[in-house]
Amino acid sequence: MTKIATLEIDGNKYEFPIIKGTEDELGIDIKTLRADTGGVTTIDPGYKNTGSCESAITFLDGEKGILRYRGYSIEELAEKADFLEVCYLLIFGELPTSEQLEKFDKDIKEESQVDEDMKKILDGFPKSAHPMGVLSSLTSALIAFNPGSVDVDSEEAMYDAIVKILAKFPVLAAWTMRKKKSLPLDYGDNSLGYVENLHKMMFSKPNQSYEANKIVNDALDKLLILHADHEQNCSTSTVRIVGSSHAGLFASLSAGISALWGPLHGGANQAVIEMLEAIREDGGDTAKYIAKAKDKNDPFRLMGFGHRVYKNFDPRAKIIKKSAEEVLSDLGIEDPVLDIAKGLAEVALKDDYFVQRKLYPNVDFYSGIIYRALGIPTDMFTVMFALGRLPGWIAQWREMRLRKEPIGRPRQIYIGENHRKFTAITNR
Ligand code: CMC
Repeated sequence: MTKIATLEIDGNKYEFPIIKGTEDELGIDIKTLRADTGGVTTIDPGYKNTGSCESAITFLDGEKGILRYRGYSIEELAEKADFLEVCYLLIFGELPTSEQLEKFDKDIKEESQVDEDMKKILDGFPKSAHPMGVLSSLTSALIAFNPGSVDVDSEEAMYDAIVKILAKFPVLAAWTMRKKKSLPLDYGDNSLGYVENLHKMMFSKPNQSYEANKIVNDALDKLLILHADHEQNCSTSTVRIVGSSHAGLFASLSAGISALWGPLHGGANQAVIEMLEAIREDGGDTAKYIAKAKDKNDPFRLMGFGHRVYKNFDPRAKIIKKSAEEVLSDLGIEDPVLDIAKGLAEVALKDDYFVQRKLYPNVDFYSGIIYRALGIPTDMFTVMFALGRLPGWIAQWREMRLRKEPIGRPRQIYIGENHRKFTAITNR
């Protein structure tokens, strides 16, 4: 039976259906609110209570620490699937058969060239430019080489745009890093797997043959899977809302990259390492920084701790913590910054302040540690997040377009001046 929510405004009653998701989540359907009430709207800055869409891609339960893509738990996917399978799963809804995966991989590889003229655009950026700004611009520039909106009534056109961006995005991300490091641009090697090839494109030396490292590739694969989707977060909502104007896929993604850049979102992994480095430079006294984080008069927060949605534990952090330990011991990394990280986590996990507020290390705490151990420059961390989030953005964009969702256009409550008469400049 459909449940009904009743709203009373100035003695008038209005009824709205309550919709139920497959995991029994309830949502009041207020689509007719303005029409029924003669213009009353809702106000919810930050959309903390607003469901912007119905989606069949990702389910998360912050209280229970559950994260699932298309019904499959993140734990199982991280252990048993590879990133390309997860890309297919997120975008098309089902795990691929071997034939489907082989075709997907082949189609991506066929699109893995980037127009040589893109190099001129990359060349125009100063070396000091932040890689996220460069990546967002290059993704936007791709539109000029692949113009037009995607015909969403054509499965072929959708597929074509999707494999193109999955193929070219890692090239652009790797080039962004190589330009900063003054290394010649590398097109990778199509005989390698998707993640291995990404690693080669980032790290190969012009005078040395590339040697794959299984530990490094497995850790990267897992990191990309863990970041692949997180339902209606800031960058994903951005991708959906830009796409809702029927802007093309690449334009929507470029906007998503900009949204991810911020330190409150994808930029937190960079902030974690910067914080650890600052602690080391200040003598490595973790107790001092734990005290600062607890001090209400000090704005300092322990970066990489706490989460808006996960209040018991971040399931991604649990998986990545194990992976971080494996990578550090397998690669025999000794790094004082990583020792500070371990020290902070040990103290914070036992400290009443953190325990009572349910502040645990989040995914960004450990991902930053692994990226550093793998030799990825700090300002590339958020680019790694973007590489992982790419299939999620694509899946959400595709879902939004296939469902023929209307253009995103929130309302507001105006709090400015009422009508007033114009005063000529001579009288002001
Ligand atoms: N260090 C010290 N105290 C903290 C921290 C922290 N990292 N996070 C929260 N608190 C305290 C906060 O001061 C407050 O204390 P009190 O109740 O005494 O006033 C309490 O814990 C609740 O904090 P809140 O700000 O209401 O919690 P929130 O859910 O609004 O914020 C957060 C979540 C992630 C923004 C916050 O925990 C934070 O700023 N963490 C550090 C930044 C970070 O690591 N961000 C990455 C998040 S994961 C990335 C992703 O999934 O996209």
